[in-house]
Amino acid sequence: MHVLIVGLGYVGLPTALAFLEAGCRVTGYDVSAARLAAIRKGQVDLSPLDHARLRFHRLETTTDPAAVAAADVVVICVPTPVDEHHVPDLSALRAACGTVVAHAVPGQLVVLTSTTYVGSTRDLLIDHLSGVDVVFSPERVDPGPGGRPLEHSPRVLGPASAKAGDRAEELLRRVAPSVHRVSSPEAAELCKLLENSFRAVNIALANEFADIAREVGVDPVEVIEAAATKPFGFMRFDPGPGVGGQCVPSDPYYLLWRLRRAAPTVLTAAMGAIAARPQAVVGRALEMLAAAGRDVRDATVLVAGVSYKPGVADARETPAVPIIAALRRLGARAEFTDPLVEELVVGEEVLKRASDPGSEPWDLVVVHTLGGDLAWLRPEQPVLDATYRLERPGDSRWEVP
Ligand SMILES: NC(=O)c1ccc[n+]([C@@H]2O[C@H](COP(=O)([O-])OP(=O)(O)OC[C@H]3O[C@@H](n4cnc5c(N)ncnc54)[C@H](O)[C@@H]3O)[C@@H](O)[C@H]2O)c1
Repeated sequence: MHVLIVGLGYVGLPTALAFLEAGCRVTGYDVSAARLAAIRKGQVDLSPLDHARLRFHRLETTTDPAAVAAADVVVICVPTPVDEHHVPDLSALRAACGTVVAHAVPGQLVVLTSTTYVGSTRDLLIDHLSGVDVVFSPERVDPGPGGRPLEHSPRVLGPASAKAGDRAEELLRRVAPSVHRVSSPEAAELCKLLENSFRAVNIALANEFADIAREVGVDPVEVIEAAATKPFGFMRFDPGPGVGGQCVPSDPYYLLWRLRRAAPTVLTAAMGAIAARPQAVVGRALEMLAAAGRDVRDATVLVAGVSYKPGVADARETPAVPIIAALRRLGARAEFTDPLVEELVVGEEVLKRASDPGSEPWDLVVVHTLGGDLAWLRPEQPVLDATYRLERPGDSRWEVP
């Protein structure tokens, strides 16, 4: 079977490697020649397993959209971000689906996997294709070195017809332990949005509880650890500095975007609270600087760890950026360190990481993402642990937001 993956990004590349491992011939089509060159050199953020697969298998790559016509199956996996006003940016998805519609041939199976608004598969593919089977099956890739392999996660499948469902189920069983079929592409699209909305609401709740715990004089981490001992009816979520990456900060907006009658107050409030979280961290940093007698206008602040989660070089949508930007706007010399991220775009500036963070007596270190070695922290160093995960010495030098 010849599978063509449209978009070889954080999700498309592991997907391509899983199909190669399953014995398929795989071609990766991407509009970015630079991305394809990085893949050929192995200079990509992958788990050790996927790096080994990339070295072992032959992944054909191309920037030629005509390649679509040669495949038996086309899997679309392009980005679906939101713009600065939280409005879904459908440009990549529309372009990719347009390419597939222009080059598809009868008899093919097309699988849309990008997270998107309910109705996308019909609007952008089904309504424009004839003689082609179409399904929606959301990606459940857990990217990065610590991520679970794609083959460990069951797939949800929403077909446009029974025949499309049968074909897609046979395909997906090659890379998933099981396939859960739903009645329509729309049900599968909404399923993915539910999964990530669930995460958003629970993260917002964890943050809110951390604030409540502080106000009533209780350690939030102690409370979370205690609640997490309940073996049923509770799922642990930890507070933090906000959310980043491609999914939680943007996916719920794809759900909220097209609603006319339903008014999802819980989700709207959660997304508002998540968006405001980095500013709460900045507010706490200012309090700590003031308590130490430091004027923010000549303070030095280091943000330790800027990727959106530990172990990845992915700094897309990272809350570290608004935190550093706000501190710099207030006059602080705010810098960052991260073992995997060398440069960070903050507003108009491209910041280089502080390579020797222990060489300076920072007025404050904000720990944003765990993963780096923090052995350089000085014993007297004021630390704001926005991860809530560090062992704290139990005095006021170390705080949580
Ligand atoms: N990153 C995650 O953790 C994750 C997890 C599950 C699902 N998803 C979803 O998967 C989808 C892809 O996300 P990602 O993180 O892999 O994105 P990404 O930005 O890492 O990669 C997308 C790739 O698509 C390419 N591309 C863009 N437009 C194209 C076009 N018109 N034709 C061909 N290639 C094109 C880009 O050059 C890039 O290489 C999104 O909908 C995302 O929400 C992401």
